[in-house]
Amino acid sequence: LREHEEFTKVKNIATIELGRYEIETWYFSPFPPEYNDCLKLYFCEFCLNFMKRKEQLQRHMKKCDLKHPPGDEIYRSGTLSMFEIDGKKNKVYGQNLCYLAKLFLDHKTLYYDVDLFLFYVLCECDDRGCHMVGYFSKEKHSEESYNLACILTLPPYQRKGYGKFLIAFSYELSKKEGKVGTPERPLSDLGLLSYRGYWTRVLLDILKRHKGNISIKVSNFLRDQDNFLSAHLLMPSSTYLNCVEKDMAVTVHFADQKWPHPVGSMCQLMELSDMTAIKAEDILTTLQSLELIQYRKGQHVICADPKVLDRHLKAAGRGGLEVDVSKLIWTPYK
Ligand code: ACO
Ligand code: ZN
Repeated sequence: LREHEEFTKVKNIATIELGRYEIETWYFSPFPPEYNDCLKLYFCEFCLNFMKRKEQLQRHMKKCDLKHPPGDEIYRSGTLSMFEIDGKKNKVYGQNLCYLAKLFLDHKTLYYDVDLFLFYVLCECDDRGCHMVGYFSKEKHSEESYNLACILTLPPYQRKGYGKFLIAFSYELSKKEGKVGTPERPLSDLGLLSYRGYWTRVLLDILKRHKGNISIKVSNFLRDQDNFLSAHLLMPSSTYLNCVEKDMAVTVHFADQKWPHPVGSMCQLMELSDMTAIKAEDILTTLQSLELIQYRKGQHVICADPKVLDRHLKAAGRGGLEVDVSKLIWTPYK
């Protein structure tokens, strides 16, 4: 289904014009052959059609009736908006976006089959329209529980927290789906840095806040609370004292009230995974890299000394732009 590009990987397009920015490109992108001899391409910042000459773009802008990406606006908070574009309904837009994105993505192969993807485009809006800042793509159905295929912040907008916003957004969608997710591999260096930063902050915030008991968001399909929890926590129901259900959240009180101290890291991982929609493996590697997993009395445990957590949180840098979940109006793709 996914074709690999088999062209030579020599960078072709050196710069692009997009909205009010002229941007130097980073990598090769397999534009159609008629663009082979172009050093610069002119993009319509709204429909992402690209042209060889400035005059063509100027003519296009007079008749292009888009002032924002096609598709549905699913989030708006202040000047930030997110649009969801179905690659099947907006094929040309999806393809244009992939050509554009590949200019800044090295490891990724270009997906010609945009039908299978949803695109989430982040915009800064003003009275001239909604200007694309970055995006991520997501498979409509992923067998590997990928919740993000490719992520990009356009270079003029990088290092301002938009990347972490996009990552956080991808996990909010997973939470709404009641699924855990993980980004498609391989990650680029910048991708890994951004994900590590996001995972670290989210996990440490929880480890800091949740002392004594653990709140678990329970999905709608929960019928038999006790069985669900036993299965989910991978422990017999005798391990915990009781569960109190309130507003779809279940608080589990353990006999050993010292959580997040040793309960057994496997169940802690599942709990953390449930709260954050971060895949357990990613939680494990993050906590391991922070040296928070220790081997004690024959089992791996998460050690969460508040002082150590604070030190790591400081090192983890800024939090990025927050996703205000109350502003997200979205139902999962069916
Ligand atoms: N140098 C060092 N650290 C960096 C840099 C950099 N140039 N850029 C990002 N980081 C790290 C920092 O830790 C930063 O946090 P901080 O600013 O608090 O220190 C963190 O990553 C994220 O910063 P953001 O501002 O939230 O992220 P940004 O908007 O810059 O977007 C992204 C990050 C999307 C990875 C961007 O760099 C990008 O588009 N790169 C090109 C495309 C790419 O590599 N995408 C990921 C491929 S993997 C995949 O798609 C699954
Ligand atoms: Zn246009």
